[in-house]
Amino acid sequence: MSKTLDTSKREQTINLGAGPSSLPTSVLLEAAQGILDYDGTGMGLVELSHRSKTFQKLMDKTEADVRALLNVPDTHAVLFLQGGGTEQFSATALNLLAAHAVKNPDYFKSNGNKGPPCDYAVTGSWTAKAVKEAARLGATTNVAIDSRKVDGANGKFGSIPPVSEWKLSPVESKPAMLYYCDNETVDGVEFPNPGFPINDLPEDYRKEVPLVADCSSNILSRPIDVAAHAIVFFGAQKNVGPSGTTVAIVRKDLIVDPDQGVPNGGPRIPTTLVYKNMLDNGSLYNTPPMFAIYASGLVFADLLQNKGGVAGATERSEKKASLIYGLIDNSDGVYLPTVRQASARSRMNVTFRISRAGENKPDEALEEAFVKRCAESNIVQVKGHRSVGGIRTSLYNAVTVEETQKLAEVMTSFMEDVKAGKL
Ligand SMILES: Cc1ncc(COP(=O)(O)O)c(C=O)c1O
Repeated sequence: MSKTLDTSKREQTINLGAGPSSLPTSVLLEAAQGILDYDGTGMGLVELSHRSKTFQKLMDKTEADVRALLNVPDTHAVLFLQGGGTEQFSATALNLLAAHAVKNPDYFKSNGNKGPPCDYAVTGSWTAKAVKEAARLGATTNVAIDSRKVDGANGKFGSIPPVSEWKLSPVESKPAMLYYCDNETVDGVEFPNPGFPINDLPEDYRKEVPLVADCSSNILSRPIDVAAHAIVFFGAQKNVGPSGTTVAIVRKDLIVDPDQGVPNGGPRIPTTLVYKNMLDNGSLYNTPPMFAIYASGLVFADLLQNKGGVAGATERSEKKASLIYGLIDNSDGVYLPTVRQASARSRMNVTFRISRAGENKPDEALEEAFVKRCAESNIVQVKGHRSVGGIRTSLYNAVTVEETQKLAEVMTSFMEDVKAGKL
């Protein structure tokens, strides 16, 4: 077998997949070496004991880099988990309900054997799933806003109404959390810069209610005030690394033994979902997803050392997104943005439909032709999510400004062909 790795095809390929998605070639080459012989141990990374000093060193460095990149204060734990973002839909609600039960022992009984409200801001498909899961697990959920149901939405996501219009639970009802998703990957909806408007929450609510953020698809693309959150979590497989690990940054005072809350109406939680088990065991309660953590660690180090950290990524994200949205806005209606509120258009997942000039309605044949045109230019994975259709070009951190310029060139020539009636 040849010992050299062939990167020639991938060097010509622009991968705009929504996740799993593109990763830096340098990182994958290093990971390939590590798979064979990690750090001169003669063993591949995935062949080491997860209890070895070698792996512990890797875990420590990876956590330190996450802390440095995201400015994580000592009040918060960094946990490396499995089960994807989806498992956090359950884990966030269960662990915060447990914390609530431990800290408020009389609440359940005095509230007619009903748990505290869990507030959700439903701004896209992933928060819709999260709230459904919490309700299924028995949480008392309150949808503070469902952006499909606001004026002009016609049942579709595509805006984020101001917090003043949300129906948050009263602070006196002691909500267990307010949950939001910073970037809705399927629908291309992102909280406008600089991020979730924490300061728009009523002051007492902001101080009392734990804030939970799903940042699976935009973490490390702009700063986030971790200290102001109870939980920030993100699956690795977009801006970070391969699928397999989910990082949860959790305020330590909210990490409790859930069994202590059970007599007070708190939930029983499966062992591997209990944050306390993971914290007490340095994320090594059971065998961790070693490769995913390793490769994610390489991405963290690369961003820190070579790419200007989160500040560098923020600048590049702005450049890339404004290039493509600028083109969409000046396409004379050939490219139709699917997100109605311009300020809530995602910098990560640019979603749009394609229309014949002047017709203002999606044309699936044209969209198919666009996907084909992209493929001819080695631009791949641009189809919209199966639930919404259309086109989605994801501009995650590993997609360079130069690659985005190539996408813009293809979009421009395709648009000219549509306008000229050639398609
Ligand atoms: C914002 C967001 N949250 C949660 C998920 C679910 O993640 P997973 O597939 O890892 O469970 C995704 C997946 O794409 C996502 O984009």
